[in-house]
Amino acid sequence: MSGEAPQHWRHPGYVAVLDLVAARAGLLPPSCPPAAMEGIDRAMARAGLPQDFAAYLTRLETDTAILDDLLVELTIGETYFFRNPEHFHFVRREVLPDLQRLRGPRHPVRVWSAGCASGEEPYSLAVLLLEEGYKDRMEVRGTDVSRAALARARVASYGEWSLRGTEAGRMRPFLHAEGKRYTLAPEVRDRVHFGYLNLAEDTWPSQSRGLWHMDIIFCRNVLIYLNRLTVEAVAQRLHATLAEGGFLIAGPSDPPLSGFAPFETIVTDWGVVYHRPAPGHTPRVHALRHFPARVIPPLVQSHSPPPVAPLPAAPPPPPRPSAVPDGLEGAKQALARGDWREAAQRAGALAEDPVAAAVAVRALANLDPRAAVRACAEAAARHPLAVELRYLEAMLLLGLGRLPESEHAVRQALYLEPSLAVAHLMLGHLRRRQGDLPGARRSFRMAESLCAALPPETPVLLADGERAGRLLEVVRNELTRLTALEEKHE
Ligand SMILES: C[S@@+](CC[C@H](N)C(=O)[O-])C[C@H]1O[C@@H](n2cnc3c(N)ncnc32)[C@H](O)[C@@H]1O
Repeated sequence: MSGEAPQHWRHPGYVAVLDLVAARAGLLPPSCPPAAMEGIDRAMARAGLPQDFAAYLTRLETDTAILDDLLVELTIGETYFFRNPEHFHFVRREVLPDLQRLRGPRHPVRVWSAGCASGEEPYSLAVLLLEEGYKDRMEVRGTDVSRAALARARVASYGEWSLRGTEAGRMRPFLHAEGKRYTLAPEVRDRVHFGYLNLAEDTWPSQSRGLWHMDIIFCRNVLIYLNRLTVEAVAQRLHATLAEGGFLIAGPSDPPLSGFAPFETIVTDWGVVYHRPAPGHTPRVHALRHFPARVIPPLVQSHSPPPVAPLPAAPPPPPRPSAVPDGLEGAKQALARGDWREAAQRAGALAEDPVAAAVAVRALANLDPRAAVRACAEAAARHPLAVELRYLEAMLLLGLGRLPESEHAVRQALYLEPSLAVAHLMLGHLRRRQGDLPGARRSFRMAESLCAALPPETPVLLADGERAGRLLEVVRNELTRLTALEEKHE
């Protein structure tokens, strides 16, 4: 944060506040400085210290309520009932039967919504469990860093906005209309226990707080706010909080986790599910009865028994082989001469290597773009830190006109490599095509400044040999086209 361009911030105090928030809550630098400054201004005013950064920083250090109040301004508490219904379908069709098989039919199911905001997510999970006959066999917890959101969750009174999802109707039997609002029936409300938790703090898993031995964790649309180091630590704690055989579901835009803890990764059409394998038990999803899912074994090996607080040190990822594997050169040459089948075959045999996986995807893209998208998603889940695979996935999805998915993939590439000029350029295209002209301008500007900072003859990363000077011209042409488009819209 301290390295941010000074013109973004009206006062250095904002940067100091955001540095403190990054250290205490692991938040990424805000993507929109003006909105962040407004939020900080509001929080400072509520603390009774408008414009007094020195005093406010001292209060932030010592008073967690003041810090929590600020976090609410810097993250979005948006949520609604049965958001991403495919996640709930997966739990019903795959996870619950699998847990029954593993633990027996009478075993209570332990569920945690981590970053639950105002409660719609854990209440949806409770309703799902009621629908499935787990009335007396469920333990559902919701935690969040926002005490205000937790207070709303406990009151459990909701407006229509919380019911905007396509499957929110499943809540209706448990809601009583009172004027323009709906009160949740005690039958559901009393089944969910709420508590404060800052995921960035090393205070969990914790048996005494009930945050341990979970069968199902939903941690959706929270990790997206956290910086890389915090995501890594949180992924390890989430793994440690799962019981053996448990499942973790993250949000569609959340960063990939499989490189950070020994999760088995289940790739589905709609995203990735993380599984903590139980020795000797094969998850039912192997049967692929309802979902075209693929199960990929853990990237990181587990060496320790399931920990409860205090948390043992997480095992480091095993070193990746550094030598170029035999055959990769041959695959690259086949790709260069346009022999796609040969390239795909040779590189496909080396799928453990992310460079080879990218060669295989490039070759496949020329044979069958849809198969290439699937292969790329699978390779990206297997090699979650491989920027090239995320970028290729974005390119392939763009080619198929699947713009929101392409945007998701390109954002993941940028999460891994924020200075990837070609990815900013692509994000600009995607935003323009989806009508977000100011967003497109920001992305093109970012690509422009990254290219302009390089000597013109420097090859640009992942730009297929394109040099910085030439790419700069391309980006500037895009900006000119965008200006013309904006004028037409005025
Ligand atoms: C967009 S909401 C997600 C709500 C719900 N999980 C969903 O997907 O609908 C993000 C929530 O994450 C919470 N949050 C952000 N940083 C957090 C942290 N470090 N620890 C715990 N919760 C955090 C915010 O307070 C907010 O309520």
